[in-house]
Amino acid sequence: MEYINKKFLLNKRPVGMPEDNCWKLIDEKIDSLNKGEILIEVKFLSIDPYMRGRMNDGVSYAAPAKIGEPMTGETVGEVVDSKSSLYEIGEVVCIHKGWQTYIKAKDTDPSIYKVPLSTIPMSSYLGAVGMPGRTAFFGLNRVGKPKEKETVVVSAASGAVGSVVGQLALMHGCHVIGVAGGQSKCEFVKETLGFHECVDYKSENFKTDLKNVCSNGIDIYFENVGGPVTKEVSYLLNQDARVPICGFISQYNEKDMLNSDTPFKILSKLENKPFHRFFVVTEWMDEWQNATRILSNHVAKGEIKYKETITEGFENAPQALRDVLTGKNFGKQIIKI
Ligand SMILES: NC(=O)c1ccc[n+]([C@@H]2O[C@H](COP(=O)([O-])OP(=O)(O)OC[C@H]3O[C@@H](n4cnc5c(N)ncnc54)[C@H](OP(=O)(O)O)[C@@H]3O)[C@@H](O)[C@H]2O)c1
Repeated sequence: MEYINKKFLLNKRPVGMPEDNCWKLIDEKIDSLNKGEILIEVKFLSIDPYMRGRMNDGVSYAAPAKIGEPMTGETVGEVVDSKSSLYEIGEVVCIHKGWQTYIKAKDTDPSIYKVPLSTIPMSSYLGAVGMPGRTAFFGLNRVGKPKEKETVVVSAASGAVGSVVGQLALMHGCHVIGVAGGQSKCEFVKETLGFHECVDYKSENFKTDLKNVCSNGIDIYFENVGGPVTKEVSYLLNQDARVPICGFISQYNEKDMLNSDTPFKILSKLENKPFHRFFVVTEWMDEWQNATRILSNHVAKGEIKYKETITEGFENAPQALRDVLTGKNFGKQIIKI
């Protein structure tokens, strides 16, 4: 059988919001497999905020994507051909090999792992049970270190990471407050995810609303957005507060990042600086399996709920990334191939 792989190559580094000409969509015929190789038919592609950073050519904790190479990204799919003793046809795997529809990979590729057979949908391995879920798990537990009855505020609360952070914090017995953009996202965060409160940062009353629901101050602020939200939160931080800095999406398209409203800049101006540090989920790579097992148990039992925006069609990946960077997505953004 002949397979044609469609792949998006990085074509040009963006200035501000990435436009369509930053990518090139090409077709490529897949050659037959060599010993130790497998072919994966991709079912879902994950679209994540970090992808914007990889398109830049700057100093960062991760190497930039190279021009002419596949756009960076994780996928989940089914093995459709195998010359490996490790993977059988029909098995479902996750792999981090970029925006592609068919992926030929060595069975020893360190980014592949098998998705266990379960009732959990395959796509959740890109969201609540995947990298974003693990980010929430490690960032909250290892950097935030929540204690019972503490007040935890999480931004981008309806999203892939934020939704899991809040639900894990509830399990720790914390008072959990989300910050999200718009009424319907706030309703979802409170009513479906069960946060105690959710404040709409797009409302003109944001400052007062936040202050009202944080009457005991804030012990942990799980930072996902930066900018004006972080400024308002920063005034309410308690003595000994912790701020795990997961990301600052509102600033990712800024042309002059050093002078933009990053959490580092905002928090360093405070008289009483909270403990804050940027973390990357890969710091706890050796514990991934355990975290995935814990998260999948919670999802299977309905203790962690999540929302996905599934966009059909591989060719819509660039627009889906722009949607994530402007908050048009509602929950984990995924492309269905
Ligand atoms: N450090 C790590 O290892 C790591 C790993 C994964 C993700 N992250 C970071 O975690 C954060 C959340 O990622 P995610 O995958 O869970 O994405 P997500 O929350 O599912 O989607 C992004 C959300 O960010 C919010 N947003 C976009 N522009 C904004 C703006 N200008 N101001 C305030 N909010 C804005 C939008 O929600 P609203 O509509 O509510 O504004 C949007 O839905 C990002 O900063 C990402 O870079 C870090």
